[in-house]
Amino acid sequence: DKVVLAYSGGLDTSVILKWLKETYNCEVVAFAADLGQGEELDPVREKAMATGACKVYIDDLREEFVKDYVFPAFRAGAIYETQYLLGTTLARPLISKRQIEIARMEGAQAVSHGATGKGNDQVRFELSYQALAPEIKIIAPWREWDLNSREVLMAYAEKHGIPIPVTKAKPYSTDRNLLHISFEGGVLEDPWNEPSEDMFVMSVSPEKAPDKPEVIVIDFEKGDPVAIDGEPLTPANMLARLNELGGRNGIGRVDMVENRFVGMKSRGVYETPGGTVLRAAHMALESICLDREVHHLKDSLLPQYSEMLYYGYWFSPERELLQGMFDESQENVTGQVKLKLYKGSVSVLGRRSPYSLYREDVATFEADEVYNQADAAGFIRLNGLRLRIRHAMQEKSGK
Ligand code: ARG
Ligand code: SIN
Repeated sequence: DKVVLAYSGGLDTSVILKWLKETYNCEVVAFAADLGQGEELDPVREKAMATGACKVYIDDLREEFVKDYVFPAFRAGAIYETQYLLGTTLARPLISKRQIEIARMEGAQAVSHGATGKGNDQVRFELSYQALAPEIKIIAPWREWDLNSREVLMAYAEKHGIPIPVTKAKPYSTDRNLLHISFEGGVLEDPWNEPSEDMFVMSVSPEKAPDKPEVIVIDFEKGDPVAIDGEPLTPANMLARLNELGGRNGIGRVDMVENRFVGMKSRGVYETPGGTVLRAAHMALESICLDREVHHLKDSLLPQYSEMLYYGYWFSPERELLQGMFDESQENVTGQVKLKLYKGSVSVLGRRSPYSLYREDVATFEADEVYNQADAAGFIRLNGLRLRIRHAMQEKSGK
């Protein structure tokens, strides 16, 4: 028997690798994705082999991650509970998809992951597996084994000769990719405890950011960013560049308490410097390119779309349905946005588009030829009809 494990090289998934072999008497194919987590993945290969993997896949999925997962979500404007830009959420379906491809190539009967039984990630992995390969067996060690504390895990590792990381364990759990880094658990579990400044990795604090603002121009085509200051960039390079720009100006930190799909509230701290800049720019361009009713309709569906992503329904008919609509809305979202990045804030300095619906001659406070102010009187009178009727009823009935 063969299992494909989503493997990171960390202590948890190393223990899982060993545990799978012991418990299921199976071969384990280890798979690690490069999603821009900023860690050397070369040592991961040796580590997996040393821990007993029969084969190792290390795949660079950075471009696919940004082009096919991050950008579609940003075309929609996705944001969960008005603050979370879904960095971890968006990576899970891609990892799952590649894992299933590998399982097929390897003729494996099962897939496994290192997410706990208390979180969102288990749901995202497993809904994706089911959508893509309903026949595959799923093994979730955290829900099966009794290695439920750090000490027990370490003891298991020691007993089986799994190297324990020399670096001191961080007092919280993190997940990083090109879109963000998340921090949860440990010292952050008390939502009154502030994170210490040395926790942050993708951004400086607004206080430490330069006193001089940085001005950039982002080019968009059909809702996706394609160039910064005239320099064309691939999706992954675009997001990396925006991270650099946003990060050094203290942009994109969020500290929130969110509702997990499984029911509990959870405190999360995030750094999403590039995503925060991108979302602000995209909204500014949409403000001139989208028809009002299309824009409002799009906004009204945003919480539901974001919830679908957060709950793990990337590969679902409802997500695909909304995605088609959001993508169509972006047909004319082409143009430029000028931004100022300064001490934690991103402000829009200008926006322009060949498909702009903004008309100076219509909007002007000066004399114009295209808008008849007298038309507004009837418009307002008819819109006020039901308010006048209600008032008359109130007078009569005393209610
Ligand atoms: N709370 C965020 C989410 O549900 C981040 C999860 C982080 N996952 C992790 N394995 N550290 O998307
Ligand atoms: C986990 O429980 O594995 C991480 C947190 C989450 O998935 O929400």
